Amino acid sequence: MPLVCLTDFQAQARERLPKASWDFIEGAADEGITMRDNMAAFKKIRLRPRYLKDVSQVDTGTTIQGEAISAPICIAPTALHCIAWPDGEMSTARAAQAAGVCYITSTYASCTLEDIVASAPSGLRWFQLLVQPDWQLNKQLIQRAESLGFKALVVSVDVPVIGKRRDDLRNQIDLKANIKLCKILQSPDEAKAVPSSLLAAMNAFFCWDHIPWLQSLTRLPIILKGILTREDAELAVKHNVQGILVSNHGGRQLDEVPASIDALAEVVAAVQGRMEVYLDGGVRTGNDVLKALALGAKCIFLGRPILWGLTCKGEKGVEEVLNILKEEFRTSMTLTGCRSIAEINRDLIQLSRL
Ligand code: FNR
Repeated sequence: MPLVCLTDFQAQARERLPKASWDFIEGAADEGITMRDNMAAFKKIRLRPRYLKDVSQVDTGTTIQGEAISAPICIAPTALHCIAWPDGEMSTARAAQAAGVCYITSTYASCTLEDIVASAPSGLRWFQLLVQPDWQLNKQLIQRAESLGFKALVVSVDVPVIGKRRDDLRNQIDLKANIKLCKILQSPDEAKAVPSSLLAAMNAFFCWDHIPWLQSLTRLPIILKGILTREDAELAVKHNVQGILVSNHGGRQLDEVPASIDALAEVVAAVQGRMEVYLDGGVRTGNDVLKALALGAKCIFLGRPILWGLTCKGEKGVEEVLNILKEEFRTSMTLTGCRSIAEINRDLIQLSRL
């Protein structure tokens, strides 16, 4: 049977992966309330289509941080793609390049940055940094990513500690052993290579005061990933960062925070157009993408669905996941009367009380 939607890939990936790997990918913090809400909250929003417009040409293309992408559907940073497919992030990067979208590479990638870039040299890539306690290491990682052509630095703000992921605890997942699989600190240049054991998985010390220091190290735009409130959005503006990715880490960190789509409006209102705002968490259909854009997101990012595609068919699977969602989004635009991204606005949705 053909796989026709993102959840078809989810069902097949579940059959293919060993239980502990599946649980690691799907896992959520505590009771999984936010993880489920990420998806359920989209379904409480209804669409207000406008008809009798000529929609014979629909353009899904847009830009993020000035770079063109074929649709506002990109790839969120997720760790250890080798769990899903042998050559991991290299396949993901190739698929992103073929689909014309941005791929945010995780600090916890299982391939080196150099191999990822070599496998898809013309793809648009951003680098996600989990700020490390070792400042030299941060400097080295940022400057290496910049010199390899990564176009933005995505700094995760929501990992002072790791959320309590019950399934990983039950499966006795060993964080230290997992970190050994990360190749991000390895490099063909011996002088730049550092043992992966130096990589920290969390950063309780990291705070606003460190943002100017990060800015002094790079000319790349800085995007804060994990902001959920008006107060933090205002601080992000004050600190002159270039973007916010509204995210609750797919419900894997603090449980019982709002669904990403419910936090989006508050952040968009606080930012008042002074930087781009993006969203990840629970996006599974073209209508979800349309709803996020109607509420002010410039682009959405996919976490788990990319790993489902990778598990099912490697590079081809990731490309299929992206193309299925792009086609669904095009259909959503056409059926609501939007010929371009610029025509998507707040009037397209109603927030119902289902
Ligand atoms: C993640 N996420 C994540 N985020 C991050 O900043 N750095 C990382 O290394 C990871 N690793 C990671 C691994 C796995 C297996 C998952 C599922 C998620 C969070 C990710 O970037 C994103 O916020 C969510 O996955 C988005 O939600 P959906 O699309 O999975 O619902």
